[in-house]
Amino acid sequence: MATSTPAQRNPFIVGSWVRGEDFFGRSTIMRDVLEGERHSIWVLGARRLGKTSLLKEIEHRVQRSRETPFVALYWDLQGSGDARGLGETLLSSIEDSETFRRSTDVTVDELESLPIAEMLANLVRRTVRSGWRLLLLVDEAEELLVVGRSDPATLARMRRVLSRGGDVRSVVTATRLLARLDDEVPLATSPFLHGFIPPVYLTPLAADECRALLARGSFAPDEVETIIERTACHPFLVQLLASRLFENRDLAATLEQLAADEMVANFFSVDFQTLAEEERALLTEVAREGTRSRRELASGTGQGEEALEVPLYGLTMLGYLTRDGDSYRLTSWLFERWLRRRL
Ligand SMILES: Nc1ncnc2c1ncn2[C@@H]1O[C@H](COP(=O)(O)OP(=O)(O)OP(=O)(O)O)[C@@H](O)[C@H]1O
Ligand SMILES: [Mg+2]
Repeated sequence: MATSTPAQRNPFIVGSWVRGEDFFGRSTIMRDVLEGERHSIWVLGARRLGKTSLLKEIEHRVQRSRETPFVALYWDLQGSGDARGLGETLLSSIEDSETFRRSTDVTVDELESLPIAEMLANLVRRTVRSGWRLLLLVDEAEELLVVGRSDPATLARMRRVLSRGGDVRSVVTATRLLARLDDEVPLATSPFLHGFIPPVYLTPLAADECRALLARGSFAPDEVETIIERTACHPFLVQLLASRLFENRDLAATLEQLAADEMVANFFSVDFQTLAEEERALLTEVAREGTRSRRELASGTGQGEEALEVPLYGLTMLGYLTRDGDSYRLTSWLFERWLRRRL
């Protein structure tokens, strides 16, 4: 087993997004985005499951590819607040991406005075004129709820530009919260998410992808398997646990520390709040009762079995539940500890 000397930098990254050689897995979803048929894609992922990293990695690969028809633009909506704020965050995305400006000949000055929907239409036009298609990578799309509540007309205009297909492919990432958009912000035209649903689920890493990431720490094979089991391959939890283990080399103590850690508890709590009420009720029932069949969950939550199909599928894809035959259990030991304590 390796020991950490000053020469051996901790290879795990906790908190900030990753790309390039630090990015693991996600090949199916990357293929769907870059080579698939859909022009509007909502990547639904829980908190810290790697939504920003996915978009940053897509941007990175498009920038380095010689074959892609796309020019990519990463747009973080967080903090936009209203139509004017959306314009500002979009302009700073353009400012930040020299590659985008070089490929399309777009300058910030010529867009500055335009309303957001026209700004977008302009970007699409300029991209197409330069011989490309626009791949718009929209992060923190829950912000559309904030904008739409006070200004549905702006959302309707943006929708018209973004759903034009062909010339523009829009990939938005958000938690389950975004599902509220069509209920809370009804548009006179089509619902905003029409075309973006059903969502593509961002799952935890696969076990072999997780092992590839953990190989950076030169841990013992049984330690690797324990990390996989306790974190359920949630990339943030894997990196956090591995990073601490790399420093102190005591897995049992590190696991106990994480299970009692305020920051981790806070993360679970914020994450849990993004889920729909019926999803939270299902997880609570499984935490309380242990492994449950669909029938037992239906009677425990007072729902019909049919009605549980969609939320159970979503919770399984997002990595909260594992299905064994007709039974469901909580996947991650760390999450289970948190949820049990909360009850
Ligand atoms: N593909 C990946 N390979 C390795 N580690 C990853 C990957 N994706 C995410 N991570 C880990 O998870 C952490 C969170 O990633 P990221 O910021 O991309 O998630 P997010 O879903 O955008 O989070 P938030 O909900 O806070 O916006 C990163 O710091 C990194 O440790
Ligand atoms: Mg993010």
